[in-house]
Amino acid sequence: MKVLVLYYSQFGNTERIARAVAAVLPEPAHVRVTSLSEVRPADLVGLSWLIVGVPTHFRDVPRVVAKFLNRVPRHGLGGVRVAVFDTRYRMTRWLSGSAAHKLARRVHRLGAALLIPPESFFVVDREGPLAEGEVERATAWGRAVAASLARPTPGRTTFDRWLYLRWVWANGWSELVGLGATVLLGWWIIHSMGAPSSALAVVATGFGAIGAGTALEGVLVGYAQARALRPSLRAVSSGGWIVATALGAGAAWTLGMLPSTAMALVRVPAEAVESPPAWLEGPGQYLLAAGMGMVLGPVLAFPQALVLRRHTRRWAAWIPANALAWALGMPVVFAGVGLVPPGAGAVPVIVTVAATCLVAGLVVGVAHGLVLVRLVATADAAPEIERRAIGQPA
Ligand SMILES: Cc1cc2nc3c(=O)[nH]c(=O)nc-3n(C[C@H](O)[C@H](O)[C@H](O)COP(=O)(O)O)c2cc1C
Repeated sequence: MKVLVLYYSQFGNTERIARAVAAVLPEPAHVRVTSLSEVRPADLVGLSWLIVGVPTHFRDVPRVVAKFLNRVPRHGLGGVRVAVFDTRYRMTRWLSGSAAHKLARRVHRLGAALLIPPESFFVVDREGPLAEGEVERATAWGRAVAASLARPTPGRTTFDRWLYLRWVWANGWSELVGLGATVLLGWWIIHSMGAPSSALAVVATGFGAIGAGTALEGVLVGYAQARALRPSLRAVSSGGWIVATALGAGAAWTLGMLPSTAMALVRVPAEAVESPPAWLEGPGQYLLAAGMGMVLGPVLAFPQALVLRRHTRRWAAWIPANALAWALGMPVVFAGVGLVPPGAGAVPVIVTVAATCLVAGLVVGVAHGLVLVRLVATADAAPEIERRAIGQPA
């Protein structure tokens, strides 16, 4: 095991923090603490752990550090587990800037796995000294670094079966309640008021469906998924995930409602609606459903993918995963809705819709869960990750 604690320090403050951190790392015999001037970029390749500390200069990493990193080969930090810190003035990061956050982005781009959020330690003045209590905070941070570095390497972990099961079940129950309630609401409105006859009623029904789909399905599925996800990816914000899911659901419902609303508005002759084209009967309708799922899945997933992007470089895989998952799930919805006999009473309708939505949710969860578990396994503490403070304000 090769561990390097690398620092750049003009006035000695960053070096003091680096030494306090190094002092609490396990296996001191393998830990080398060194200044940037004593290493070459190639020395970083093949390390097990790398801890880098730099002062903040003009809101960024010092120029000499940036030049050094520019000479590290592309993907040169692949497989290296990294933690970064800076020293800076004690003020909101928005004003002072933070070299650690910039540094985190750079090492992330070089392939490093960042396992703990960047940290800042404060100086009283330009040349120091360190503010009171900062060395003790560095010791605490060093212990947190040691603990996070001792966890299994992301990407090489075994398949997280508990996350997968939580995920599948979360999708099942939330679609049962969220999609089920949306479909039943629509059924109840049409059942009690009849199909919309005026253009205004058609548009109002369309907006109603979109609103219900966003608020019921989007929010509930987002909530259930966030609950399933968070124990394995704590850095994901539940609120952010719920908002992203609701936005995606809103967009997908809007797109999904467009054809039927447009057809109702131009009043397609009744006989055309009553006798759909032959190809749409039987297997044709399932192909159409799968095609719809393939389009709506990515629309639904896009805002979520943007959330995942903060945590894993492979976030883009979330889009095709949802295309496939919904290409499988949408035919289930079509098949289930087709099982409701015309003129059926409330109980058979509720039971059939509930069972359909549950099965569709489980099918979708089984499919995109396989990708999600792998994405979570490759997630790291990228720079955007929330600050898990060791007593430090943001
Ligand atoms: C050229 C220069 C630019 C600086 N710019 C910033 C800054 O943008 N934000 C900040 O918080 N501190 C800034 N500082 C203060 C440094 O963060 C401080 O000098 C450093 O933490 C001391 O660490 P050292 O003793 O390891 O060099 C700057 C200091 C220098 C010398």
